[in-house]
Amino acid sequence: MGTDNFRKEYIELVASVREYMEEQLKLGFIETELREPEQQSPYADFDLPALATDAGNCTKCPLHETRNSVVFGVGNTNADLMFIGEAPGADEDRQGEPFVGRAGQLLTQIIESGMELKRADVYIANVLKCRPPGNRNPEVDEVATCSPYLIRQIELIQPKVIVALGSFAARMLLDTKIGITKLRGEFHECNVAGLRVLPHKKPPVIMPTYHPAYLLRNPNAKRDVWEDIKKVLAFLAQG
Ligand code: URA
Repeated sequence: MGTDNFRKEYIELVASVREYMEEQLKLGFIETELREPEQQSPYADFDLPALATDAGNCTKCPLHETRNSVVFGVGNTNADLMFIGEAPGADEDRQGEPFVGRAGQLLTQIIESGMELKRADVYIANVLKCRPPGNRNPEVDEVATCSPYLIRQIELIQPKVIVALGSFAARMLLDTKIGITKLRGEFHECNVAGLRVLPHKKPPVIMPTYHPAYLLRNPNAKRDVWEDIKKVLAFLAQG
């Protein structure tokens, strides 16, 4: 066998081993790092369908008593770009899909008219999967109970960029108390404890921006959001 053939076979072998390892890692069968058992995600070995089923039956916090639907997430499960909001509202609770009400229509407009992407090309989810009654703010313990679902979603989707819509998503992803006005407009490192990332991949970068519901009340802030979104587009265009 010539050297060229040998090298080609070697490269193919390495590629197929890498593909196999990535798949195993994605399914949670191997770990990239050793962690203390208490830090380990309860969903470490769940794939997205299993995670969605588990979330669909979740009774871990009182929100399950008042919800109509569990709003897990929607979109391209291989997306480079993920949008994360706060929690489902009344429309989302009724339809079982994130961002379908008035704020959602604005988000769709940002994605489709502004970014010239399809809504189905990105992945959209929330910090909380169930609606807080009367659209009240999420409670600290609700976020703590529910966020392992989102963390596992991020691990499985492995986006390059996450747009954190509003202060709750930004706070959770950056583990900070700094307000959205200070955070927005710049990329931040993801600061989710124990988030597993494939060996040759980078953790997602986070772009916090105003929540679309805030934009409905403050249309002047749309200009800022568009500046933030242009940075996201430029980042994605770098490959
Ligand atoms: N607001 C959110 O944060 N998420 C939704 O899904 C809808 C409104």
